[in-house]
Amino acid sequence: MSAPPLNQPLSRPDPTLPVGMFDSGVGGFTVFRELKKVLPNEPVVYYGDTANIPYGDRDPQLIRKWAKNILAFLLQKNVKAIAIACNISSSVLTAEDLAQVPVPVFGLVYNGAAAALQATKNSRIGVIATAATVETGSYVRTIRSFNPRAEVTQSACPKFVPFTESGVFNGNEVDKAVREYIAPLKEKGVDTVIYGCTHYPLLEQAITKHLDGVQMIDPAVEIVEELAAYLHTNDLLHSATRQDDMIYASDLNEHFFSTAELFLNRDIRPLTQEVKLNLPEQKA
Ligand code: DGL
Repeated sequence: MSAPPLNQPLSRPDPTLPVGMFDSGVGGFTVFRELKKVLPNEPVVYYGDTANIPYGDRDPQLIRKWAKNILAFLLQKNVKAIAIACNISSSVLTAEDLAQVPVPVFGLVYNGAAAALQATKNSRIGVIATAATVETGSYVRTIRSFNPRAEVTQSACPKFVPFTESGVFNGNEVDKAVREYIAPLKEKGVDTVIYGCTHYPLLEQAITKHLDGVQMIDPAVEIVEELAAYLHTNDLLHSATRQDDMIYASDLNEHFFSTAELFLNRDIRPLTQEVKLNLPEQKA
């Protein structure tokens, strides 16, 4: 089932170059964290569009335009491969958009869908995601393209990103929201649930305690596995000498730093720079 990257890279990049990654905010740190677990020597260039978060409430065409700007920025930073650490960007970028990118690009949706189908026993899969990702139907389409009989139940969880972006990972309000959002999945008897937004694994404890016996799929794990396999097969892994990472955000704020520290286990301030790429007033 594995066919990444999503595009045809144009030339063989230099293995010592960094891996590019982006999200609307801190959610992509779940992919960043996973990459460092699997490939600790790979330098990362990360972009978080924190000035425009949440993407999940926006017009898909505007998100697509913003995601294309971020891809161009990462290419300027000379990355050798790109992991789209944002489900909604992964859902709205088209094959044509990705064909313009000269380095290999990896997305979350394909990998998450494939992993869920491998895990499910009853072919009933749940997807928790932002309203925009649910609206694109990207997970439903991709899962059904592999198995037309699979039953996919989606649930939009608009409160989850604001919780994580403000440093709230548990408590009564979170519990209440989790119960509300997973009710339709329980009703359908899903045995597997995909984190369809990279912010959601930050709420893992709060979510999984209400989903006893259900397999959770984190596409961050799958995308990193595919990226690692690709770099390995193509002899593109970085040598043992570690370069440092660079983290860009459109609005650097205390919460961005503290969440990074919590999930990446380090103070990212010395690696960080504020760069605004996408104007909020921009029209699609
Ligand atoms: N983390 C992003 C995703 O995976 C979206 C968060 C947002 O709404 O900005 O889709």
